[in-house]
Order: sequence, then C-alpha cells, then structure tokens
Amino acid sequence: MKGSTNGRRIGITGLGVHVPERVFTNKDLEQYVDTSDEWIVERTGIRERRFASEEEALTDIARPAAVAALENSGTRADEIDLLICATVTPDMMFPTSAAILADELVMPEAAAYDLLAGCTGFVYAIAQAYGMLAGGLAKKALVVGGDVLSKILDWEDRSTLVLFGDGAGAVVLERVDEGGFLGFELGADGGGGENLWLPGSGSRHFEDADRLVKMNGREVFKFATRVLVSSAEAVLSECGRSVDEVDVYVPHQANRRIIDHAARKLGIPDEKVVINVDRYGNTSSGSIPLALADAALDGRLREGELVLMTGMGAGLTWGSALIEWNRGGVAA
Ligand code: ACO
Repeated sequence: MKGSTNGRRIGITGLGVHVPERVFTNKDLEQYVDTSDEWIVERTGIRERRFASEEEALTDIARPAAVAALENSGTRADEIDLLICATVTPDMMFPTSAAILADELVMPEAAAYDLLAGCTGFVYAIAQAYGMLAGGLAKKALVVGGDVLSKILDWEDRSTLVLFGDGAGAVVLERVDEGGFLGFELGADGGGGENLWLPGSGSRHFEDADRLVKMNGREVFKFATRVLVSSAEAVLSECGRSVDEVDVYVPHQANRRIIDHAARKLGIPDEKVVINVDRYGNTSSGSIPLALADAALDGRLREGELVLMTGMGAGLTWGSALIEWNRGGVAA
C-alpha cells in the first residue's frame, strides 16, 4: 500500500519516550550465553540495552511515554479520541494494552486497540491514525509504540538475546497548519514470516506452546537491507521527493550494519542518519519513536525538515513514512 497525503495536513504535535531503568551491557549478557562485547559491537553496533524488571509489563513503560507525549503536545487525555498501541508484547491478548492505557489515562472518548505488525508496528500505526484523522473519524490520536521483548527472548539463544531491548515511545497526531505527513508506503510478506516468529503465541501451536522468539538472522538481514532501501525509495517517489531532500533519516534500529548499508545504498550521508541502537538495541515498536526523541533532543528535528522513517520486522513487514516536521521538542 502506498499513497501521498495530498495536502491533508496531519502532523505530530507531541512526542514522549520511556525506557526501563535496568541497563544490561554486552558484558552482562556473557553470564547467560557464550558471547563477547567485541562480537556484539562488531556485528551489531549494540553496546547496551534496557530490560524491564520482572514486575514491569508493556503498559508500565508505555504509560510514562504516553503521558510525556500528551504533555509535550499540550493535549488533555480526555481530548484523545483514538489510541493505537503498536506492540508484539502486550500485557496480555485481551484486554488490549490500548484499552488498559485509555482507561488508566482516562480517555473516555477514545477508540482503543492494539496493532500487531512486528517492528514496523509504529509506522503502520501512524499511517492508520493518519487515515482516521484525515477521514474525519478522529480529531486527536495517540499512537504508542513499545515492546518488552526481554519477556519473549530465549535467554539461552545467543543469536537473539544480544539484539533486543525494551522501550516505548508515543506521539500525538492531529491537524496542523504547516507541514505534516506527506505519504506512506507499507508492505508485508507472510511467505518470509518463519524467519522471525513466535510459534506458541496464538491458536496454531497452542498445545506445544513455545513462547520464545525464533529467528533466522541471515535471512532477516538480507530482507532488512533490501526493504529499508526499496520502501524508502517508494515513499519518496510517491511524494515526488528526492533522497537529497531528506534532512533526517530515522531507520528502525535493528543493527548498525543494516542501517549503514541502507544509508549507503540510498545515498544518505552519516550526519543525516539517526542512530541509537548502541544504547537501546532493537526495541521493536519503540525503536522509531525513541530515535525521533533523540533527534529532537540533539536539535535535528526542526520545523520544515523532511524526515524519513522506515521500519521493518516480523510478519515480515516493512513501512515508511515521510513527514515535513511541523514542530520540535520532546519530553524524554
Ligand atoms: N556471540 C558470539 N557469536 C555469535 C553470536 C553471539 N551473540 N551470535 C551468533 N554467533 C556466531 C554464530 O554461531 C556463527 O558461528 P559459526 O560460524 O561458528 O557458526 C558466527 O557467530 C557468525 O554467525 P552469523 O549468523 O553469520 O553472523 P552475522 O554476521 O550474520 O550476524 C546477526 C548475526 C547479528 C544476527 C545478523 O544476521 C543480523 O543482524 N540479522 C538481522 C537480525 C535482526 O535485525 N532481527 C530483527 C529485525 S526485525 C525486528 O526488528 C523484529
């Protein structure tokens, strides 16, 4: 699916993020699996990540991010009439984490549901919220992206344990006078789904319930390097923009090598690329908002800047959003 937004101005007016307190360095992971700081840094660029405590579930880290986004945008909770929570690690299947958040934050007007699109969840969710707002069904949307992947990782599998981390971000979307989203491109390839899967998470393999992530890293690597480039090119072409016009590139933070490869292929210079995978690892649906927050904090998200976000992940799925930034600032 792809399309440009043809002047219906919907933008991001608030941004907030939250990560759990517990820091796990690469060295800390050596006590669980046969790995080393040197291997992890060289192959992934990751140095440390945050892991939730035993008591913390998704909504515990998503709630502070949502509150910060509302404050940042100057929006009251009861003004939100749409809440989408993108995650693969909800507190439970139902009630949905979105419904729990809407209740806790007191959003009586909000339609609330979870969206499951792997690490692309945040991009899918902002595209959906855009559609609801542009179509007049909602006036102010809160999009939350977050995951606590530490809960579904196999702590004995070195090929996955070292890659992921926990974190969440949230944005408020509403009509704006200047700038805003220019277009989206979203896709899915279920045929490649078994390269990154959670077999015991639903009705298919319920009996032998294996509730831990399985991944074919090399296949995911090939997929990721391909779609980060093709999806970015597709959204730029759909919006009639060139890659040279991109001021800030916010790719999904899965692996430094994947990001470097995509940026090189696209021809985006290093200074335009936002990278924080070294500090957070791959936080799935939290990855893009956490990177946006870093870009905002270091002054790179200025009004009028063209920001390209591209995600990819389980499904397999991918998605890009192009936005002319309509407002800076972030409450971290
Ligand atoms: N520490 C030490 N050695 C390791 C580790 C580890 N943590 N993990 C694997 N190895 C070993 C392997 O066993 C292998 O050993 P062998 O040669 O004796 O068999 C060797 O390192 C090389 O393994 P490769 O898989 O070839 O290593 P590669 O350079 O491909 O890097 C990696 C592996 C980092 C997983 C890479 O394939 C990758 O990043 N893939 C994409 C993963 C990803 O991003 N997934 C999520 C994206 S979607 C989403 O965000 C949900």
